[in-house]
Amino acid sequence: MLPQGPIGVFDSGFGGLSVLRELQHALPDADFLYLGDNARAPYGTRSFDTVYTYTLQAVRWLFDHDCPLVIIACNTASAKALRSIQQLDLPRIAPRRRVLGVIRPTAEAVGQLSATGVVGLLGTPGTVASGSYDIEVAKLHPGFRVVAEAAPMWVPIVEQGFAASDGADWFVAEAVDRLLARDPDIDTIILGCTHYPLLYDKIRAAVPAGIDLVCQGRIVASSLLLYLGRHKDIDSAISRGGHTRYYTTDDAAAFAARAGVFLGHDIEARTTSLQ
Ligand code: DGL
Repeated sequence: MLPQGPIGVFDSGFGGLSVLRELQHALPDADFLYLGDNARAPYGTRSFDTVYTYTLQAVRWLFDHDCPLVIIACNTASAKALRSIQQLDLPRIAPRRRVLGVIRPTAEAVGQLSATGVVGLLGTPGTVASGSYDIEVAKLHPGFRVVAEAAPMWVPIVEQGFAASDGADWFVAEAVDRLLARDPDIDTIILGCTHYPLLYDKIRAAVPAGIDLVCQGRIVASSLLLYLGRHKDIDSAISRGGHTRYYTTDDAAAFAARAGVFLGHDIEARTTSLQ
């Protein structure tokens, strides 16, 4: 039997909180351990090798802190590192633990959401260049097409605390307009970066009302519930105290202040380092 521990949730920074919030809602009695690599965010403009190295360090850190299951709540890391970690590293470093990402459950969900089959994707340059959504959506929903544009400024805007600023409106509208100009049949837009729900109101205001915006948090949470129903060994290894601990690789007080605003309650955070 695996020793019990919290569900690890990892992102390059604040974005994974948009997933964590929904996971906490879906599994209120589970313990969680959140790790944001804020000191090295954004990941979206970094090379494949760098994102893989950083993500593996984070996964190892979460395993060292007893997590039986890690959710990579970051599209960039899911696109660039998840498969290698699952196939090459996990069997070697922790064969009974599991690591899941956010792209596959999101790609599954769009099948029910789009009527035209033309799905817009906004993501980091790394996620868009990886083609991961195109591949997954085409595999799961033959006939569907993904039209993708990168929004390279959105993660820095969130990480630097400008999500509510007037200046952010311009960057939001610029990327949305660029995407919608690509295809008039887009009826669904995946917010393919977990930071983007922190800009939700601004994105919603920039996107015409008839187009659905897909936030990943709830999708990942429902998919996790199904997963735990099928994998009793992992389910029974999750400790159940209803507590969440927060770690960042950057300043803990700054992290706690900004995360607290987003989550709607005060939190305490600690600083750690990854290597
Ligand atoms: N939240 C990450 C994602 O979903 C942002 C990546 C970044 O740090 O650029 O892709």
